[in-house]
Amino acid sequence: MKKIAIPFVVLLMFLISSCYYDKAELIYNQNVACDTSNVKYSTVVAPILNTNCNGCHGGNAAMGAGIILDNYASTKVYIDNRRLINSILQNGTASNMPKGGGKLDACTIRKINSWINKGALNN
Ligand code: HEC
Repeated sequence: MKKIAIPFVVLLMFLISSCYYDKAELIYNQNVACDTSNVKYSTVVAPILNTNCNGCHGGNAAMGAGIILDNYASTKVYIDNRRLINSILQNGTASNMPKGGGKLDACTIRKINSWINKGALNN
């Protein structure tokens, strides 16, 4: 009996602690690691677009259906008509972006949303 019980208890402890770890990770990612306090166009938003979007939507790229997201003025058009945020939220009201790729991670989307909510300034 004892021989079976000890590994069982160890396994149970491992399972419980791994569940706890997952939860802590989730909370950490959502509340602590995502800093949306100082999101600027030049330092945060433009680099996100350059990395994830401008392979298709850059001025010299021919794959973005004429939608240019590598400068503020042109990006602002798609901010104001809500197409950009709807496309990355993948909420069914615009084409899902990035096209052919996965959804941007939650923190990246929150950063862009925070910038938009503060007026989408050219800062
Ligand atoms: C692989 C190429 C590709 C990538 C990467 C890509 N797009 Fe697009 N995007 C397109 C094409 C093609 C269209 C137009 C056709 C369509 O709607 O599918 C488009 C359309 C759009 C539209 C208009 C959607 C609508 O319904 O009016 C927006 C806004 C947009 N993209 C934003 C983005 C953003 C933001 C990213 C990065 C997070 C991104 N795209 C990444 C190719 C791309």
